[in-house]
Amino acid sequence: MSDHYDNSGVDRLYAEVWGENIHYGVYPTGDESIEDATWIAKRTMAEAVGLKPGMTVLEVGCGYGATARYLAETFGVDVVATNISEVQLKRCRERDQPTTGGKLRFEYADFHDLPYEDGTFDVWWCQESLVHSAEKEKVLAEAFRVLKPGGRVVISDHIFWVDKLTPAERTAVEARYHMSKLSSPDDYKAHLAAVGFDLVDHRDWQVHAAMHRAKVLQRLESKMDEFARVIDPETLSVNHHSWAEWARMAAEGKLSFDFFLAEKPRG
Ligand SMILES: C[S@@+](CC[C@H](N)C(=O)[O-])C[C@H]1O[C@@H](n2cnc3c(N)ncnc32)[C@H](O)[C@@H]1O
Repeated sequence: MSDHYDNSGVDRLYAEVWGENIHYGVYPTGDESIEDATWIAKRTMAEAVGLKPGMTVLEVGCGYGATARYLAETFGVDVVATNISEVQLKRCRERDQPTTGGKLRFEYADFHDLPYEDGTFDVWWCQESLVHSAEKEKVLAEAFRVLKPGGRVVISDHIFWVDKLTPAERTAVEARYHMSKLSSPDDYKAHLAAVGFDLVDHRDWQVHAAMHRAKVLQRLESKMDEFARVIDPETLSVNHHSWAEWARMAAEGKLSFDFFLAEKPRG
């Protein structure tokens, strides 16, 4: 699934519209900028999971590395941030180590098959990356394996309300994610339980997904002339169309952005 982001036109769109965070924001008032809302989402997740200095965090699907850096600097945790996109990993490694807080390392790792020992981490962090897997239970079983007893998974993910999608919408979403099975919040809860986690918290952040999708579409459309000079017309048109569709589906309550917190039993 790294091919989508490794296309240079798509990479540029995300970098210039979404910024360094390729995930939804949380908008307590609705007046927040895209940037402020994405930092609020991270802070909300970090506080919910209970990060403390010295903890070890594994981030999977780390995008451009902004979350990993924020967690290390702000909460003093040691972060191993992983990805299968070499383009994004290169960008992550171009920046210096944080000067305060915990240690930060960027590594290639597929979240289906992690190259880490059992019981290594206190927290497994995943922001809008699990959506890319057709084998979510396998990914969560790997999370369970690499966590210490009492360790926690914290997830925010792009969720589709499968029952509400028209056949055409379903086909479009499946094509975008290269998979024939989409998951609803109940599926995530079932996968977490099946691999042994105890669910601690679930929040439906649909209202935030709708706001975020509207704001990124608006920003994309305000820069179309600029992008047309540097991105090939087909990439631009395909992405514009799908971002508009995603904004419409979010406004209609067909897609969301949900938060899950779960714990590995202490034994
Ligand atoms: C929507 S982006 C989110 C990036 C980042 N978490 C953020 O919030 O800014 C999805 C990320 O998942 C990564 N990804 C997709 N499939 C993956 C896999 N099998 N293993 C690890 N990372 C994966 C992509 O390369 C990308 O960095």
